Amino acid sequence: EKAGFEHFMLKEIHEQPKAYRDTMTSRISSEGDRVTLQEIGMTPDEIRAINRIHIVACGTAYHAGLVGKYVIEKLARISVETDVASEYRYRSPIITKETLVIVVSQSGETADTLAALREAKRCGARVLAITNVVGSSVAREADDVITTWAGLEIAVASTKAYTSQLIAFYLLGLHLAQTLDTQTPAYIAEVITALKELPAQVERVLEQADQIKEFADEISTHNDLFFIGRGLDYAVALEGSLKLKEISYIHSEAYAAGELKHGTLALIQEGIPVIALGTQHELMEKTISNIKEVKARGAHVLGIGVEGEDELQKAVDTIFNIPRTLDLLAPALSVISLQLLSYYASLARGNDVDKPRNLAKSVTVE
Ligand code: M6R
Repeated sequence: EKAGFEHFMLKEIHEQPKAYRDTMTSRISSEGDRVTLQEIGMTPDEIRAINRIHIVACGTAYHAGLVGKYVIEKLARISVETDVASEYRYRSPIITKETLVIVVSQSGETADTLAALREAKRCGARVLAITNVVGSSVAREADDVITTWAGLEIAVASTKAYTSQLIAFYLLGLHLAQTLDTQTPAYIAEVITALKELPAQVERVLEQADQIKEFADEISTHNDLFFIGRGLDYAVALEGSLKLKEISYIHSEAYAAGELKHGTLALIQEGIPVIALGTQHELMEKTISNIKEVKARGAHVLGIGVEGEDELQKAVDTIFNIPRTLDLLAPALSVISLQLLSYYASLARGNDVDKPRNLAKSVTVE
């Protein structure tokens, strides 16, 4: 069942190149210049009428929604809010017929996400689901469904489902941009070309797992650490931190790198590990100055950067580089290194990787 892998989680991490291909291939034109999401029944006029988008989900799916916010705002120029499903219903969200509510759920059975979906429908919004389970409750009740073709995910810690959700958001962002004419055909083709390169690039990250393992062994002796990043790197930092807590039981916090000096910097002291994501070119200079702030307080910094960029490398103690891609797509590669980090840290601590304590794969209570 584990196809020779020691754990389901490791198997599922390695299934990501296939999950990426399966989720995108049939939705990209053979010329590689357009995305077709036939499963979306909204007409161009209905898409033009959308004035805001709410993305609602829990846990890792919520983190995919944070990336989704950046992607849709950048590509389609529609205002997006991402909410935790267990909070959304109770804050009287402003939902109208012009609101598109996107619910994200691997299982399609998460109680809070389902309740948020029902509330959105009750208020007259159109609901689009991104889910991995055909025929799940979320899939049945939504107006439109984008299925992620990640295949069955068994490990409690979500890996391939999260990254397939990212691919779904890239495709959706492109679909909206094509309809709304917010991007040039040349840029759309450029993003599609870069998307198609991702599966092979994930393979290259996986080939370098040993480098990540060394760092995981080192952090496994610590009880606290930090993840920092800006922009999309911050969204990925949140996911990296959740994954690490979930299976290694090491406490960590993810911070928007620019926020540290507003309080959290007080916790940085000699020897504390900080994982700094620096894949976003426009934010690099600022991220590096935040890295210097923690280094000056004695932090040991692991940088997650991009091949061929030496600026970040110079600022950190250890570097792990992902292959070069568009900044927008970097989460689909950088998160793989953080999944491996959690996996090896959990292993080093002798935990039950696939079945972490206190947790269930599908959360059907509110
Ligand atoms: O099935 P769902 O995507 O709705 O599940 C949501 C969360 O419970 C889930 O992503 C959880 O956070 C994972 N165990 C994280 O790895």
